[in-house]
Amino acid sequence: MAAELPLYLLLLLAPLLAAPLFLLLVTTRWTPRGGARLRLPPGPWALPVIGHLHLLARSLPHRVMRDLARRHGPLMLLRFGEVPVVVASSPAAAREVMRTHDAAFASRPIGPMSRLWFQGAEGILFAPYGDDWRQLRRVCTQELLSARRVQSFRPVREDELRLLLRSVASAAAGAGPVNLTALISTYIADSTVRAIIGSRRLKDRDAYLRMLKGLFGIMPGMSLPDLFPSSRLAMLVSRAPARIKAYRRSMRQIMDGIIQEHRDRAAPGDAEEEEEDFVDVLLRLQKEVDSQFPLTTENIKTVMLDIFGASTETSATTLDWAMAELLRNPGAMEKAQHEVREALAAAGHSTVAGTA
Ligand code: HEM
Repeated sequence: MAAELPLYLLLLLAPLLAAPLFLLLVTTRWTPRGGARLRLPPGPWALPVIGHLHLLARSLPHRVMRDLARRHGPLMLLRFGEVPVVVASSPAAAREVMRTHDAAFASRPIGPMSRLWFQGAEGILFAPYGDDWRQLRRVCTQELLSARRVQSFRPVREDELRLLLRSVASAAAGAGPVNLTALISTYIADSTVRAIIGSRRLKDRDAYLRMLKGLFGIMPGMSLPDLFPSSRLAMLVSRAPARIKAYRRSMRQIMDGIIQEHRDRAAPGDAEEEEEDFVDVLLRLQKEVDSQFPLTTENIKTVMLDIFGASTETSATTLDWAMAELLRNPGAMEKAQHEVREALAAAGHSTVAGTA
């Protein structure tokens, strides 16, 4: 099973890898001579221009961080290019960031590439902490992620799960190993796309997913312009800005098409009675929500991407990890298999294939 870096998870956890402006402020101690002295967390020795970037080349980032934290403590200061990064890696340090100083760390840092992508419509993930974010988050929790809504997508999940199981069965019938990581990824991506845009399949699905993958490769902030935000040269020599602009243009076109389709479908006279998908909900909310916090169409497109980004890599990585742990632990695997068989029997099926 490929051990890939869960990039979006890193993005979601940005507060734990936060550009430490707040920390620098709260740890400022005035020296007797009146000059500000910063009590910075400890960190390894840094190279002149790149800082600690070279350390990331050694292994997977989370393993590098774990090893460094063993030496430098649960709160350490690294520098990626020009960007200072505080890494909080113990439960107590994470609690300080996520709970005690929650409000100070609530806004995710936005680099030049994210700014180029969002162009002012920051959705939920990157909206600065404040009333607009609170309002959007409230409608998302109540409308998009409510228990009723999650339940309404059950048939989509079951349908996609059947497809996953068929793919696993046909791959297992072949001679080679089964790449469960790739199959799980497709399963999660397809279930999520269908929850967002409806039961129909997205005709540009493959192109869309390819662009998303490219985008999520740049967005976590490891492109040259994000690492050296003050450098005009970095902006000039990097391919990231042109790629971001191209993805933005093409993906917005796809999303414009999806939104238009939904608007046409919702037009009076359309008798089709279907369960609302996420886009239907967002378009309905656009008409309903407090005009003080308007939900613009640009923001709807960003929220569509936020939901996709926040849900796919996280869920796929979790499933992947669970499967890897089960393979390493035959006792737990046997127990899990027994539970699945019991649940199937209770539902009147003798095998998983029998549900298809
Ligand atoms: C196993 C799966 C998942 C994991 C491990 C996970 C993990 C996380 C983490 C660590 C955060 C950051 C929390 C914070 O900053 O306080 C987050 C935020 C978020 N997650 Fe999840 N998540 C998962 C599934 C999902 C799903 C299925 C959805 C949507 C359908 C989703 C939507 C979001 C959104 C919208 C945010 C941003 C909230 C905000 O910034 O206000 N997540 N998630």
